Amino acid sequence: MSLFSNFVRTARKGSDSQGATLGQVIAFANQKGGVAKTTTTLNLAVAFTEMGHNVLAVDLDPQGNLTMSQGMNPDNVERSMFDVLVHSVPLQDVIQRAEVDIAVSSIDLAGAELALSSMIGRERALQKALLPVRSSYDYILIDTPPSLGLLTINALTAADYVIVPVQCEYLSLRGLVQLEGTLSMIRENLNPSVEIRGILPTMFDSRTLHSREAIDMLKENFGDLVFDTRIRKTIRYAEAPVQGSSVLKYEPSGQAAEAYRDLAKEVLNGAKTRAREHA
Ligand SMILES: Nc1ncnc2c1ncn2[C@@H]1O[C@H](COP(=O)(O)OP(=O)(O)O)[C@@H](O)[C@H]1O
Ligand SMILES: [Mg+2]
Repeated sequence: MSLFSNFVRTARKGSDSQGATLGQVIAFANQKGGVAKTTTTLNLAVAFTEMGHNVLAVDLDPQGNLTMSQGMNPDNVERSMFDVLVHSVPLQDVIQRAEVDIAVSSIDLAGAELALSSMIGRERALQKALLPVRSSYDYILIDTPPSLGLLTINALTAADYVIVPVQCEYLSLRGLVQLEGTLSMIRENLNPSVEIRGILPTMFDSRTLHSREAIDMLKENFGDLVFDTRIRKTIRYAEAPVQGSSVLKYEPSGQAAEAYRDLAKEVLNGAKTRAREHA
């Protein structure tokens, strides 16, 4: 990664008209798999980059889908987030340059939960590892595994904000209650200031009543925490990673790319209320 551009970054940060907090850490979480956490982490990261921001994406999922979606093989990486969390390897050492900077995952990250569990400060390993790089980036986006285990807890502890991608169907909505419970515990014990930045409806199909009803239900329960941006269902999101690219690079003027540019604007404008407590 390029450390030499610090000057430029500082200048840009100082004059950021969006009023974005500097070096913001955003975690993407939902213990359900297949809700577009990884897709959202990558494409929002690339959308931020297009806007001129410096972005680091952290792959905290042992499945390494984020790493793979940028054309890298998690089986071949020499050192990964496992070494960062468990062996205190500097985070800078596992960053690979792609469309955005990626702190890569590998399969041995699956062993991190066990290895961390007996360590003092086990929930804060990521927060600590991010400290030296926070000033080098405008945004640090963390992709998490589909569980509420120690890796996700590390992400939520390190995060300023959480974005929750939710598939537009009833069964997906139920899991949000459990995630909220975990977030409450994190706030009480580890990170009092972490906030949900927004809930993102994904795989939305406007033609089906079910999709529209799912959105209604989301809004009923979470009000203005639900982003206005909806990510529609399209095969583009599955095609792009096969080419090792984001949808923004794969089909720059397509609707799929536009959706994540819209989301980037919505996230940066901070239109959503902060720290809204809800039952
Ligand atoms: N809006 C969408 N429409 C259709 N397919 C999508 C969409 N977003 C993601 N996908 C696909 O769904 C699958 C799961 O997405 P992914 O981002 O890997 O979810 P997660 O990280 O939550 O498990 C992937 O194959 C991805 O390409
Ligand atoms: Mg994923």
